[in-house]
Amino acid sequence: MNNTSAWREYFVATDEQGLHVLAEAASLAVRSLDQPHEGPRTSLAPSQLRAGVRALEVCAREGVALATVLEELGTAVWAHGVRPLDVACVAHLHPPSVVPAVVTELTIAASNQSMDSWDQAPVATEVELHLMEFLGRRLGFSDSASGVMTSGGTASNVLGLTLARSWAASTIGVDVLKTGLPEEARRWRFLASDQAHFSVQRAAGQLGLGRDAVVTVASDESGAMDIRALDSALSQLDAQGLVPIAFSATAGTTDLGAIDPLAQIAERARHRGAWFHVDAAVAGAFVMSDVLRERLAGVELADSVTVDFHKLWWQPFNASALVVRDVERFDLLRVRSNYLDRGDELEGMINLVGRSLDTSRRFDAAKVVASLRTIGQRDFAAMLEHLVGLNDYCARRITVGDDFELLAPASSVTCVFDAPGASADDLRRVQQELLAEGAMVLGRTEIRGRAALKFTFMNPLATFEDVDELLRVVAQRLHRR
Ligand SMILES: Cc1ncc(COP(=O)(O)O)c(C=O)c1O
Repeated sequence: MNNTSAWREYFVATDEQGLHVLAEAASLAVRSLDQPHEGPRTSLAPSQLRAGVRALEVCAREGVALATVLEELGTAVWAHGVRPLDVACVAHLHPPSVVPAVVTELTIAASNQSMDSWDQAPVATEVELHLMEFLGRRLGFSDSASGVMTSGGTASNVLGLTLARSWAASTIGVDVLKTGLPEEARRWRFLASDQAHFSVQRAAGQLGLGRDAVVTVASDESGAMDIRALDSALSQLDAQGLVPIAFSATAGTTDLGAIDPLAQIAERARHRGAWFHVDAAVAGAFVMSDVLRERLAGVELADSVTVDFHKLWWQPFNASALVVRDVERFDLLRVRSNYLDRGDELEGMINLVGRSLDTSRRFDAAKVVASLRTIGQRDFAAMLEHLVGLNDYCARRITVGDDFELLAPASSVTCVFDAPGASADDLRRVQQELLAEGAMVLGRTEIRGRAALKFTFMNPLATFEDVDELLRVVAQRLHRR
């Protein structure tokens, strides 16, 4: 007989002894984060980082004590990571994570519910549904709305547009997931602005329509879809006999934070019988603020909405949601399987695999619920409004000063600018130098062919003085050229 008890220490048990072992290990893990640091990221060169990591043997013949492994992770990894809570970490939509989410991650992993089927996640399924319905109500949907969590905005957009394609096919009596694209699909088009996230194009590619099936609509100076350009694109499609099957609007574009005119786009989608998807990965959090909510007017008219919890909801990766106005739309996606989703379950047993492009899936809803319950609506909204306030302040400072030029009006939490007289190479040098020194993780992008620098405000602990300092550091570095 095998002596299996020696392996027991590797597994999470919830008896007294097991919980004690887990608590000790968790406390060591927390301590491993305590590393000397300065600034938003390490100043070690890529080759030094590589050498430090390669020195760790992934799996030796004999295992190493967990305390040692955690300590090594501390000195080789956590000491050299990016620190999203540092006020100079302003490149991306990359948030600092909140304590309730982080500790709930531990319990999510320890209990390891799998969200694909009710028999693996009975109460967890209910929690995810509860959260999706909460989000649906916040978005302004009726009780028939629901959703599913995904790994990110890209996955949510692909899921929303997959539903859009299936919906279009179903209106001509085709089950596209079963029989493939019908002849008519050659004429199908998605519409999205020139500022839409690349995942819209990726979805069109993956769905067999091809990236060229995305008709790009021009945006206005703020980066929001220009409705006249949309109307003229629609007229052209009509003239060519092409059929818009999905309108994909963005609420909070990646670079400019712009929100498309949702209600006007919804009206055009409805008129054409097309699917209306809103990528609210960025600004979806505005539904939590009475002040910012009105910027999303029209989102309640969508057929599907992407919301990323791992952006302005301060959740650790991964946590996103795709909410649909009518839960029955998920039936377009459902594939029965003998071992998982048979369709003969008892009343009320929902297998979320029927809504998802994933099968096994984490119980990320728990950390979102834990965070929202801990923070509460008032503080959540206040933190969000503060970030928008920081961004507005930054835009004003840029406008009144001589060092920089604002490239678009500030819309949410991103400020995009360049500097009079500075070349694209100057901007690149400044961004790369600050990164290499570990002094600032500064954003760099291109707006309508013009090289630009970018601040993305994700950290509610940042102050107006911090914004002044960021601008000062970038200006000083530019003048050194
Ligand atoms: C507007 C928008 N949509 C979708 C995404 C993709 O999100 P994710 O990185 O979670 O896949 C992003 C990422 O920044 C985004 O800005």
